[in-house]
Amino acid sequence: MTSRQTNRSRCLALALTTAAIMTLIALIAAPQPASAENKAAGEKTLQPLLPVPIPPDNPQTEAKVELGRMLYFDPRLSGDSSIACAKCHDPAKGFSNGLQMSDAYPGTKHWRHVPTVLNAAYLKHQFWDGRAPSLEAQAVGPIAAPIEMNQNYTHLVEKLSGIPYYVEQFKKVFNSDVNMDNLARAIAAFERTIVSKPGRVDRYLNGDKSALKESEVRGMALFTGKANCIACHHGPVLSDGEFHTTGVPEIEPLKTETDRIATRHFFATDQKYPNPRSVDADYGRELITKSAADRGRFKTPGLRELKWTAPYMHNGAFETLEEVIEFYSKGGGNHPNKDPLLKPFKLTDQEFEDLLSFLEALSSPEPLKVTKPELPKKVDGTL
Ligand code: HEC
Ligand code: HEC
Repeated sequence: MTSRQTNRSRCLALALTTAAIMTLIALIAAPQPASAENKAAGEKTLQPLLPVPIPPDNPQTEAKVELGRMLYFDPRLSGDSSIACAKCHDPAKGFSNGLQMSDAYPGTKHWRHVPTVLNAAYLKHQFWDGRAPSLEAQAVGPIAAPIEMNQNYTHLVEKLSGIPYYVEQFKKVFNSDVNMDNLARAIAAFERTIVSKPGRVDRYLNGDKSALKESEVRGMALFTGKANCIACHHGPVLSDGEFHTTGVPEIEPLKTETDRIATRHFFATDQKYPNPRSVDADYGRELITKSAADRGRFKTPGLRELKWTAPYMHNGAFETLEEVIEFYSKGGGNHPNKDPLLKPFKLTDQEFEDLLSFLEALSSPEPLKVTKPELPKKVDGTL
């Protein structure tokens, strides 16, 4: 071999190695295809809907779900018998209330938007700040909260024990008297039936490429690519189960309405936040952990069924999905703690429509229907 040939083959080898490295880099950097096979733990991909997780200590039974449905619709769970879970989480309004702010116990005003109960069964944490670890732990919260149902547990147990249906059903389902733990289990079991059915996006992810329109497929590519929604919204219900600061702007009523400010200070006091009257905005996760790094962090909500659950965000700041996309395209809001995953991006008009149509494809064509049961009467025959 002449030295020139050696040089040539060295060059060739170098070129080949460089090409191989470039290919490797390109492969690593390429956006992951959103396929069902691609769902190793920790990977940020879209996934088809899975069966709802059921905790081993609260198995589903038909009678339990039915008892839970009754309790969910029964306003007698509240102090003045006027507010059922279903008042704020109304099946006719996507299991939320269709308003920016939550309803509240008479004489009080709420400070947060009602998150939907739809698919809450899939979420790792409950509440915008994640303070409840399960549906069972969550269910007793609103019953006692002075701004929601304002009920005393001991009194509630006695009140329900005067209703023969509840006494019989607690015996049948749990072999117990009426008590708060089993009441929470029954409601949670009912909530585990308030879930989406697999839809067109699931069919597509499972390999049926005809299930989505071209624009929805392009929207999905933007979601997982340029717009990078996938960084936080991934998995079967499109939530990473984590907390992030996106910088959603404060809304006017929370800056000016005395009763809402009182609720904020009350909540901070209740959470034993130091100097609660200094809390001048919704600090989100920080109110629970007391760690300044958590200021402004909220739980990543799921993105299924958005069609039925407007307005959006912890304070209902955005009425439409168009507003949500515009917010993200600017890289989110202004907040010193803003998550570095949020970066501005530019969409053409066509791309904006594509992303929107993908988000819309994540909703069922019809809202989930649950009918209000006829409520059981008291021993004296009245409601
Ligand atoms: C007065 C209105 C109101 C009533 C009544 C009410 N809720 Fe809620 N619910 C809310 C609001 C507001 C939140 C969010 C509060 C927060 O994050 O601090 C919430 C949060 C939840 C969540 C968490 C969902 C998620 O994604 O984090 C579930 C589940 C839930 N409620 C179920 C119930 C059940 C069950 C009842 C009846 C026992 C009930 N709610 C009664 C307003 C209400
Ligand atoms: C850094 C993580 C992160 C990224 C990236 C992200 N989100 Fe979110 N998303 C969140 C969090 C956290 C919330 C709740 C914020 C709040 O309530 O203040 C949220 C809320 C939403 C909501 C409101 C849902 C509801 O029920 O109220 C929608 C819709 C949404 N995001 C869509 C998107 C889209 C579309 C993208 C991409 C353009 C995106 N998100 C990118 C974390 C993220």
